Amino acid sequence: MKPFLLTRTLPEDATDAALRADVLHGLSRRPKTLPPKWFYDARGSELFEEITRLPEYYPTRAEREILIDRAGEIAAASGARTLVELGSGSSEKTRHLLDALADLHSYVPVDVSESALRGAAEALLKERPGLSVHALIADFTAGLTLPETPGPRLVAFLGGTLGNLLPAERSVFLKSVRDLLAPGDTLLLGTDLVKDEEVLVAAYDDAAGVTAAFNRNVLSVVDRELGADFVPEDFAHVARWNPREEWIEMRLRARRSLTVKIPELDLVVPFEAGEELRTEVSAKFREDGVRGELAAAGLRLAHWWTDSEDRFALSLSTVD
Ligand code: AVJ
Repeated sequence: MKPFLLTRTLPEDATDAALRADVLHGLSRRPKTLPPKWFYDARGSELFEEITRLPEYYPTRAEREILIDRAGEIAAASGARTLVELGSGSSEKTRHLLDALADLHSYVPVDVSESALRGAAEALLKERPGLSVHALIADFTAGLTLPETPGPRLVAFLGGTLGNLLPAERSVFLKSVRDLLAPGDTLLLGTDLVKDEEVLVAAYDDAAGVTAAFNRNVLSVVDRELGADFVPEDFAHVARWNPREEWIEMRLRARRSLTVKIPELDLVVPFEAGEELRTEVSAKFREDGVRGELAAAGLRLAHWWTDSEDRFALSLSTVD
């Protein structure tokens, strides 16, 4: 079995510093916000895995269907010898791609979670002992340096996570991805699509209450990491479709007026009864919008594949 390389491009305390900055900034402004990346501690990651199996949450199944149907076409169009996966998590869906890429030499999973990277690499190397795996502990929204591996490269950003970025952040992010690519390299991007409001809202407000628990979990993270005294049950889960922005917003609504102390930040945060804290936007896309955002970043959309119910899309782009 080949050695497994792991490179940390984040200082050990970077996560802590970023959480403090985000909480201080997000809870001092109105409307109050917290960025969605703080959902994913061990408990939040488990809850997200549970979400992907809910009957209402279609994106994971829809994207997997496309990957299974199109892995051969993706492999042929990219000809990749290196697969880079941004936000790789458990690398579960990636198997379909890895199996189809006949000339693959290196897999470069990129994630902020060292435990997820180690687990995924260990499982993968058991199946593909000849594969060279070079994992990067990095925040892919903060500019990346990739290891020297054979080209062409296929950079995959799956799951619809692009939708968690605001439009201005998306444009910065897509330009930074463009800068990772050389001529002949490709980007595989997963985007959830605009559809009926009822279907969208149900996907983010499931009957079993798993998404509500996932949403409230961000308060438990702030309690544990920063000594705050949020009582998650004091907040109601809200999922709302914003038709102007074409995104789902998840919010936490204070059930009564209350005050939260965050000793580690020397901060006292008042909430009015009914006040809402925005914890996530999940943008939904249309083909023309995706093509336009890619073009603005210097990328040309070459393939557009959807699932059998047109709920989700995978696109493959080349460097312009
Ligand atoms: C993992 C970011 C794609 O936005 O659908 C699931 C996260 N939030 N349910 C999404 C999520 C609420 C998910 N992404």
